[in-house]
Amino acid sequence: MCRPTHFTVSYRINPWMFPENPTNQKLAESQWQSLYDAYRALGIEVELIDPIPGLPDMVYAANGGFVLDGIAYGARFRYPERQPEGPAYLDYLEALGFTPTPATELNEGEGDFLLVGDVILAATGFRSDEASHRELATVFDREVVTLRLVNPSFYHLDTALAVLDSTTIAYYPDAFDEPSRRELERRFPDAILASEADATVLGLNLFSDGKNVVMAEQAVRLRADIEARGFQTVGVNLSELLLGGGGVKCCTLELRS
Ligand code: ARG
Repeated sequence: MCRPTHFTVSYRINPWMFPENPTNQKLAESQWQSLYDAYRALGIEVELIDPIPGLPDMVYAANGGFVLDGIAYGARFRYPERQPEGPAYLDYLEALGFTPTPATELNEGEGDFLLVGDVILAATGFRSDEASHRELATVFDREVVTLRLVNPSFYHLDTALAVLDSTTIAYYPDAFDEPSRRELERRFPDAILASEADATVLGLNLFSDGKNVVMAEQAVRLRADIEARGFQTVGVNLSELLLGGGGVKCCTLELRS
């Protein structure tokens, strides 16, 4: 995770961001702290990368790379405003002991790549290029399933789809094109389908350890549906970080050794 020390909204690279509206850094910090505390209470170990001045989106650590099998695949951001985050995260992941693999192709890390069991679901449409999906498959020697996002409000895969355990996902169907929806239906016939209201508070942008789910408390219906499947949920309120277009999952990069 990365503390929102320099958090603000000073440019617009997704429909959630309004640079003309003020943000409250102190509130962002205390809400972020509640997420950090929720992880610690679940016994999850959290590493912290130092925030860099001038990189207000660095708090969205999920975009910093994709880490699996001890390998860190680097991010290459679409917009110049975030590009310096790529090398900063990769250097940090190397210092933690992961084998760094810089990316040739444009990709925004775990924002667009989600591991479900042995398969990696990978999105394109707004940020990551499809070519990065092939690169990902080569680097990790796993099956990579390409999904196409079509709604600009759900510009990263982790805003539209949540992995709950190695076989269970939840998603918002309207965020995907028709072939992607069919592919998701075929692979995950029992998936939880999120409503527009729950998707719009970034309810799907959640973290699950397979038993415990940390998610936006505003996503009431989705939370009940997840609990009905036997998961324990912890609700957090990251309203201030939502102003940058990110929630729980965006603030979290998973480190898989
Ligand atoms: N303002 C950031 C951007 O548009 C938010 C990133 C959210 N991160 C995520 N994993 N969805 O790039």
